[in-house]
Amino acid sequence: MKAIILAGGSGTRLAPMTAAISKQLLPVYDKPMLYYPLSTLMMAGIRDYLIISTPRDVPLIQQLLSDGARLGIRISYAVQDAPRGIAEALIIGEAFAAGEPVCLMLGDNVFFGHKMIEPLSAACANATGATVFAYYVRDPERYGVVSFDAAGRPTSLMEKPSMPASNWAVTGVYVYDGQAASIAKSLTPSARGEIEITDLNKVYLQQGALNVVKMGRGVAWLDTGTPESMLEAAQFIHVMEARQGLKIGCIEEIALRKKFVSPSALDALVAPYGNNAYGQYVRRVAEEITEQRA
Ligand code: DAU
Repeated sequence: MKAIILAGGSGTRLAPMTAAISKQLLPVYDKPMLYYPLSTLMMAGIRDYLIISTPRDVPLIQQLLSDGARLGIRISYAVQDAPRGIAEALIIGEAFAAGEPVCLMLGDNVFFGHKMIEPLSAACANATGATVFAYYVRDPERYGVVSFDAAGRPTSLMEKPSMPASNWAVTGVYVYDGQAASIAKSLTPSARGEIEITDLNKVYLQQGALNVVKMGRGVAWLDTGTPESMLEAAQFIHVMEARQGLKIGCIEEIALRKKFVSPSALDALVAPYGNNAYGQYVRRVAEEITEQRA
């Protein structure tokens, strides 16, 4: 399975923080936001990525992640020259996906919890139709919203409805079969001029090919849409990391634990961090793994 990470957009809701840099490069506590969705996808076993961002930000993201070789993954890049909608990522990524199933994830979606990884891995392993992941929230009007019939089948999808039909928000990670790019091309831009991901998912719903996985309360889906929620997300990560002494979203740790790289490649892995606290943490993980595997 390949994955497209969409990490562009205008970021106007977070200005001035995003005046000179994309939202996905802003820190969430001790690492760039983009590390979190990348780590989720790496935990699901995905090693082949296309990162799409603005002409301004692609070079910055390249500076951060390069071609992924350090992490035992492959990363290529593409530009979205204007924010014409989330579904456009599938059109930009058409050659990358090459008609095969693909996972699409928004670069500002931060998840915590293993109960997220299992259903994501399962959806990737058996990608039929489209699979979306729904999360129960207090404020569904801020998201795409899915409603269900009595048997739990999805019945409707609405983008940011003023009167939400349920509390189930559609999160920003999607798994599609090989049809997604051609369906995306057939969509008409919405009133705000975007090719809406919700419209794409509606086509799958109409075909009876939309799978909705409800994520339970053991998963945290953290909001990064406002300055307050970004601060709260950072606090959440800080509290969890301080309590456990384990990092959340540490892509080097995941590369080691998933055996994408061997602990003997540690020097390259920690090169960007030198001997700082983050680098020391990765070294500690590599030593632990070496001892366990001895
Ligand atoms: O996070 C989940 C939500 O993401 C879903 O529930 C919604 O259905 C979906 O439309 C989306 O809602 P947002 O309000 O978060 O969409 P936004 O326009 O803010 O875009 C989400 C991210 O994708 C954001 O970080 C910017 C990036 N983006 C967005 C567009 C429209 C791009 O890179 N290019 C784009 O053209």
